[in-house]
Amino acid sequence: MARITAGVASSHIPALGAAMDLGKTEQDYWKPAFAGYEWTRAWETQEKPDVVVLVFNDHATAFDMNFIPTFAIGCAESYKSADEGWGARPVPDVIGHPDLAWHIAQSCILDEFDMTIINKMDVDHGLTVPMSMMFGQPEAWPVRVVPLAVNVVTYPPPTGNRCYALGEAIARAVASFPEDLNVQIWGTGGMSHQLQGPRAGLINKAWDTRFLDDLSADPQRLRHIPHIEYLRETGSEGIEMVMWLIMRGALGPNVRELHRHYHVPASNTAVGHIVLEPVSA
Ligand SMILES: [Fe+2]
Repeated sequence: MARITAGVASSHIPALGAAMDLGKTEQDYWKPAFAGYEWTRAWETQEKPDVVVLVFNDHATAFDMNFIPTFAIGCAESYKSADEGWGARPVPDVIGHPDLAWHIAQSCILDEFDMTIINKMDVDHGLTVPMSMMFGQPEAWPVRVVPLAVNVVTYPPPTGNRCYALGEAIARAVASFPEDLNVQIWGTGGMSHQLQGPRAGLINKAWDTRFLDDLSADPQRLRHIPHIEYLRETGSEGIEMVMWLIMRGALGPNVRELHRHYHVPASNTAVGHIVLEPVSA
């Protein structure tokens, strides 16, 4: 059977992707931001996951105000890197896993999570930047990907509690897929950041650190953080962190923290990254 072996969370800051694409990762400004991912790149080569369920949000690239799915799952064979205004990032096509994706869609919908099914989509930095951070610059990505898009762009995003419960439903879905697959689940976005207005550049290291701590120590607290707290404490874009709770919910009650990286600033945001593995009780 398929099994979820680890959870990974990471910021998906577009400037990190641009720094890689333009060969700037060794520059003084960028080097410490990338250094915290070296452990994970080595670990991923050992772990060799078959599939990543990659929770991300689209940034008005594939979706716009014409249609805004709260939870959408990609069931396509492959996904192209999106043109976000500067041409598409020079990264490989993302290869999907339609059989697993359709199975997760069916299982979650019958489990009363009303997923939108996507059969064609270009993927923006929300998905491709974490792939670059974890796998570098290969000719082909070493994993297949089931993209899971969450609306955190337009109010109202789903609650953290709903996201956590969706993660639990995804875990049930994966556990009932009959193929022997090593599956990871990734949550992306965050951490504290605000891109516009008088509070642009807001970073709240204390809040972010407690969030990282409680992914292991007290995930039940995290699922009940209200939207207004994300907005007040982590800036207008910090709500992306609810996507980390889908990842966390899929890992079960107990986890072990394998690796953590937190760096400020990168493009006016806080880079957060953590690797967790489920621990059976
Ligand atoms: Fe984002």
